[in-house]
Amino acid sequence: MSEPASVVRATAPGRVNLIGDHTDYTGGFVLPMAIDRSVVVEGRRGGRVVRLRSRSESGEAAFPLTVENPGAIFPPWARYAAGVAKTVTPRVGFDGEIRSTVPVGAGLSSSAALSVAVALAFGFEGTALELAQACQTAEHVATGVPCGIMDQLASAAGVAGHSLLIDCAALSVSPVPMPEGVDVWVLRAGGPRRLVGSPYAERRAQCEAASAVVGPLRDVASVSALDVLDDALLRRRARHVVTENDRVLACADALRRGDIVSAGALMTESHVSLRDDFDVSTDALDAAVARLTSTPGVLGARLTGAGFGGSVVALAESGARVGEDAWRVVAVGGATVEEIGGGSSL
Ligand code: GLA
Repeated sequence: MSEPASVVRATAPGRVNLIGDHTDYTGGFVLPMAIDRSVVVEGRRGGRVVRLRSRSESGEAAFPLTVENPGAIFPPWARYAAGVAKTVTPRVGFDGEIRSTVPVGAGLSSSAALSVAVALAFGFEGTALELAQACQTAEHVATGVPCGIMDQLASAAGVAGHSLLIDCAALSVSPVPMPEGVDVWVLRAGGPRRLVGSPYAERRAQCEAASAVVGPLRDVASVSALDVLDDALLRRRARHVVTENDRVLACADALRRGDIVSAGALMTESHVSLRDDFDVSTDALDAAVARLTSTPGVLGARLTGAGFGGSVVALAESGARVGEDAWRVVAVGGATVEEIGGGSSL
């Protein structure tokens, strides 16, 4: 951790995942991009206590640097910050405010962006990968949800104008330039969703049960190799992961070649797999995908993130009239922290 240093502003973007869901925690491939919606944490480092206020959420949080049980902190939005404090063990406290333009519960990683911004505000020093790993652990500690690395790494390692092909086993990030003539859109569908209390952990356990029989799912050469799984449900779960990994690599390739038609088609196939094999879609998400894919100029659409609600992401030709309820997102750089003033320690 760095020396106590005055007043800082940390900014961390949310992310939209173009393709590759429920693959990160099995060591597979994902293709998210950091978006032009972010969480900003601004305040003064010093003292032995963390005090945080939020512009959009009620209540004020105050907890000691040596917080014991982050999952018990109130208000609940501050649990992520408490998880970060427990994980990165800052040298000094912090007194500041959070503001965010990442909608909560939209599947756009508002919580990962919050954790990443808080870690930087607390003085975390390290590579983007180390930052993402610390924040992933913080989220496990704060919520008990066994999330993968995608969201935190997309926020920490974003590259303007690029999506990120992440190999979640090697933990390597390869930026993929967004081709000319194409835009990415996001559409909220269904009510807000939370991963806490969702079947997310159950899906992860099912993937682990499948790979206990067939080995790491990313190394499964073809879907027929899954026939050894007696349980039809596990077979479907594993089939999603195996086919999704192929789609991610094919989509990254298509984007690199400027083949936006194929990239869009792969995204829509991904939705079908998430809906039918992984069972994480909802009627609202399916209806949004159906509407978007029948809109002229839209090349493909799918639910993005964990599912169970949230948002749909669409790839569309530039200039397509995607709808007034959708908004265009742009790929931005990863999280940053800057000193914005001096001052004595609290
Ligand atoms: C959530 C998790 C990620 C990832 C996605 C599904 O966003 O935080 O790690 O597993 O769901 O792809």
